[in-house]
Amino acid sequence: MTALTLKPAAGSGLRADAIVVGVAKGAEGPVVAPGAEAVDAAFDGKLAGLLETLGASGAEGELTKLPAPAGFRTPLVVAVGLGAEDVKEAGFGAEALRRAAGVAARALTGVRKASFALPVAGAEAVGAIGEGALLGAYAFRAYKDDTDAKAPVAEIAVHGAKARDKAHKAAAERAVVLAEELNRARDLVNTPSNDLYPESFAAIAQAAGKEHGLKVTVLDEKALAKGGFGGILGVGAGSARPPRLVKIEYKGAKAQQSLAFVGKGITYDSGGISLKPAGHNETMKCDMGGAAAVFAAVVTAARLKLPVHVTGWLALAENMPSGSATRPGDVLRMYSGKTVEVLNTDAEGRLVLADAIARAGEENPDAIVDVATLTGAMMVALGSRTFGVMSNDDAFRATIHELSGQAGEPSWPMPLPAHLRKGMESSTADIANMGERMGGGLVAGLFLEEFVAEDIAWAHLDIAGPAFNEGAPFGYTPKGGTGSAVRTLVRLAETAAEGELV
Ligand code: BES
Ligand code: MN
Ligand code: ZN
Repeated sequence: MTALTLKPAAGSGLRADAIVVGVAKGAEGPVVAPGAEAVDAAFDGKLAGLLETLGASGAEGELTKLPAPAGFRTPLVVAVGLGAEDVKEAGFGAEALRRAAGVAARALTGVRKASFALPVAGAEAVGAIGEGALLGAYAFRAYKDDTDAKAPVAEIAVHGAKARDKAHKAAAERAVVLAEELNRARDLVNTPSNDLYPESFAAIAQAAGKEHGLKVTVLDEKALAKGGFGGILGVGAGSARPPRLVKIEYKGAKAQQSLAFVGKGITYDSGGISLKPAGHNETMKCDMGGAAAVFAAVVTAARLKLPVHVTGWLALAENMPSGSATRPGDVLRMYSGKTVEVLNTDAEGRLVLADAIARAGEENPDAIVDVATLTGAMMVALGSRTFGVMSNDDAFRATIHELSGQAGEPSWPMPLPAHLRKGMESSTADIANMGERMGGGLVAGLFLEEFVAEDIAWAHLDIAGPAFNEGAPFGYTPKGGTGSAVRTLVRLAETAAEGELV
């Protein structure tokens, strides 16, 4: 991954391959943001005017490249829009900085050494610029021998930061660890299903556990049968690649609160016997995005040595049609003992999650948060950049919404209307895995709630929209796997580490 360093304010003698400066949207045109004084001086104080001539306004997402004037040692100037300055906060918000840094990093492919001279008001800005830059510099190149394709920027220096300031250093270190693990989650999502399947995913978790001193337990198909995990086994029954349940545990010293993160890990969702039509399955390698996020968040909590107890549960299965596959109409006996009539094998995520949620509840954590690319209905409701949050606890749901906003991950609270339970009534089993089509995302949430142990705060994040970006890259978000929910889960772990989550 791209390397990150902290440097003092960028001066006139700076030697790098490119320098990134911020441009704010002022009332009368673009304004050069603090941090870029030396660059502006090299242009005789005329940088804002030049940028305006080139059509720049300082709007968020905007990028303008220009050559540095003669005598300035760094040849390329990259100006990124920061939007309007937040008058109330007297500066630029963390998300504006993350996005601007990400836009710049994406434009710097092929550049070796880049200096970021963006406005740094404090440690939070250092972290935001570092995070945005490292996430923006991400590229998935495992399956392309593109010797011609330009490599991501190799080295990024955040200027205006103090390398000896404890808070600045900690913010930079957090950004590096978080970005490394989040980018690894993106890699997992982008890895095609012929290479990433339950067994190989479990092996990756085991290797990471070894590397970072985490306890990893893998239940294979035999252990799952012995344990009665009918949901996970039922979903995996059609595949030549058998399912797994992975438990990855980090117990920080002096932990006061314990969290269970449960991730949907369908390494490929064909729909099963209720096969998805062409046009709906091309991106279904992304259906393990929840498990990837959980995995990344647990490893991040461990690497940051947070004083919290976090257990990740990865419910891994491949949903395929075959002679051994679960049929519509089959009844599964779940880990909790409940029976489920499978009316649609494409509603598989809730089946694997139900088993993992029930199992997680046995350890009596303070809270359970599941993350899943669960329903197309949630995408219809909230679009492709916002995830839905459902919970059995209104205050907890509000907290998650708040923390996700801080993390730069848009979310929206969604209800669990009790009347929708009726649609899942089955004449054969305790519950069916489908209900009314309207409010399908909420129906799925209600289904999961049935498997949550009483008295445990639980929340469900439906990331079907933001987990995989089918459109063009934006800000620090690439095409393909995005690493959605990793940063929200890490904020949850950090808040629990302060003993303040639930
Ligand atoms: N993995 C899909 C949901 C999904 C759709 C994720 C699009 C990302 C993009 C899930 O397993 C699914 O198939 N859900 C069905 C449920 C229905 C059969 C009740 C859906 O949303 O159509
Ligand atoms: Mn499905
Ligand atoms: Zn699915």
